[in-house]
Amino acid sequence: MVFVLTELFLAGSDTTANTLEWALLLMMVYPEIQARCYEEIRLTQNGTEKLRYEDRHRMPYTMAVIYEIQRFKVIVPLSVPHGTVKDVSFHGYIIPKGTRVYFDLYSVHRDESQWKFPHEFNPHNFLNDNEEFVKPDAFMPFSAGPRVCMGESLAHMEIFLFFTTLLKHYEFFWPEKHIKPDLTERFGITQSPIPYRVGIRHRDV
Ligand code: HEM
Repeated sequence: MVFVLTELFLAGSDTTANTLEWALLLMMVYPEIQARCYEEIRLTQNGTEKLRYEDRHRMPYTMAVIYEIQRFKVIVPLSVPHGTVKDVSFHGYIIPKGTRVYFDLYSVHRDESQWKFPHEFNPHNFLNDNEEFVKPDAFMPFSAGPRVCMGESLAHMEIFLFFTTLLKHYEFFWPEKHIKPDLTERFGITQSPIPYRVGIRHRDV
């Protein structure tokens, strides 16, 4: 029980926190996208109410931004190592039993056959021509298959509620006039941004 709970905390903390760090950095780099999310959040719900996860159905643009953050900055780019328990034939290749296998989720999220704007940060990767939210099959920050992230639905809920509540109450801006934001990833099992400073202005809701 202790090991299982520890694993849930370890797997669930760094990943969600990293995603939110990228989210704030990207919102500072793209203030016009931040402004559009704020407008949608403001129009969708009553100022005094707390945001609820169900509100996502009325926020296609904000949902597209959240998914685009996760597509553009893959938190676990090589997923976690898997292994073959028997010889496997895959796309004409034989992978012998006992081979360590890594999924390159980063390349899936940059695949030019799957995305309208594979190499740029653009919420329209998740919006159709009617500006409705759509999720392409190639979106897989949580990996895929029987061992897909166990906390996926919890993570979706956490990220939506933190992101929208922060944007509802605060405006985030880049405070370093003479330094440009750096979007380079710090490579590791999980990829986080280089530590940055953030300017915060309280909004009158
Ligand atoms: C943005 C947030 C998150 C991302 C991007 C993420 C991503 C991943 C990825 C890529 C894997 C590997 C799946 C595989 O083996 O192919 C994984 C596994 C796992 N994740 Fe997450 N995760 C997130 C949040 C969470 C949360 C909130 C929890 C739980 C509270 C969690 C619990 C786990 C567990 C227990 C596994 C191992 C599942 C298994 O091996 O069967 N994750 N996650």
